[in-house]
Amino acid sequence: KYKMILDLDTGIDDALALAYAIADQDCDLIGIIGSYGNVLIEQGTQNSRDLLSLLGASNVPVYEGLSHSSTTSNFTVQPVSARIHGDNGVANLNLTHASTKIEKQSGVDFLIDAAHKYKKNLLLVPTGPLTNLAAAIKKDPAITKLIGHVTLMGGALTVPGNVSPVSEANIHQDPEAANAVFQSDIELTMVGLDVTTRTLLTKQETRIWRNLKTKSGSIYADLVDYYIEAYKETNPHLNGCALHDPLAVAAALEPKLLDTIYLNMKVDTNEPYEGRTIGDETRLNLPAITTQVATNVDVKRFTTKFMERLTTLFQK
Ligand code: BDR
Ligand code: CA
Repeated sequence: KYKMILDLDTGIDDALALAYAIADQDCDLIGIIGSYGNVLIEQGTQNSRDLLSLLGASNVPVYEGLSHSSTTSNFTVQPVSARIHGDNGVANLNLTHASTKIEKQSGVDFLIDAAHKYKKNLLLVPTGPLTNLAAAIKKDPAITKLIGHVTLMGGALTVPGNVSPVSEANIHQDPEAANAVFQSDIELTMVGLDVTTRTLLTKQETRIWRNLKTKSGSIYADLVDYYIEAYKETNPHLNGCALHDPLAVAAALEPKLLDTIYLNMKVDTNEPYEGRTIGDETRLNLPAITTQVATNVDVKRFTTKFMERLTTLFQK
């Protein structure tokens, strides 16, 4: 059985990713690492704990990751993140605070230990900045060869970015970390805006959850309705909100959902293209290319599965 670790900056689509992972029967979710991005680290970690408890999964341990990139001294939430996810990352709802404690071990050390323990059975899904993974690789470079696969939400190869014309939010938070991860020989799949913006959820689907008349169903419906409204302001051409983070979890569990190309990537760490993910021309012809970039997604299969799983989970 695969073991999965999620590294989340828990805003609304991270909350959906978490629910998708919990609903999976074939994989053990062995821990959550908290990150910064949509919210400050403390808030994101709290959100993960509260959501785990809401979903009856308080047994999943939560570890705190790093609170900002290694090239900055602190982190402040961008107004656009607060607008899309709410000031507290969860649509400004007052989730019941979980009693589950945060683990004493750091998120980075937990990841390193898990890599040694589970090796190729370990799947890592980062849906926020890559700060924690880059720090773990720096501390223990051996983990790149141990970890089974990293399926990350971030970047954009064939489409424009969402925080600048060329860069996507998660990569843009910590371009150096993202570049270090892409330059390592870890096996990874980049699930970027190329594919995530094709998977949309609408109020038609959230109504199904609301009609379940369960606590989790109505809270998740409220979360996503907020996200859909905010999405409309920034993406008036889209009818619904993008399922960025849950698509990465789904693809980690079922890689065939995606079409990918093998292409080693790099990240620009300086302006004018800071945060841009682009093919690394110096590593085009290596005998073994370890990075895959998603170029297409089976939208129907994914969204059907997504709704089946989450609806069943919220029924409880
Ligand atoms: C990514 O940025 C965050 O706002 C979302 O949670 C997602 O991980 C999309 O660019
Ligand atoms: Ca995220």
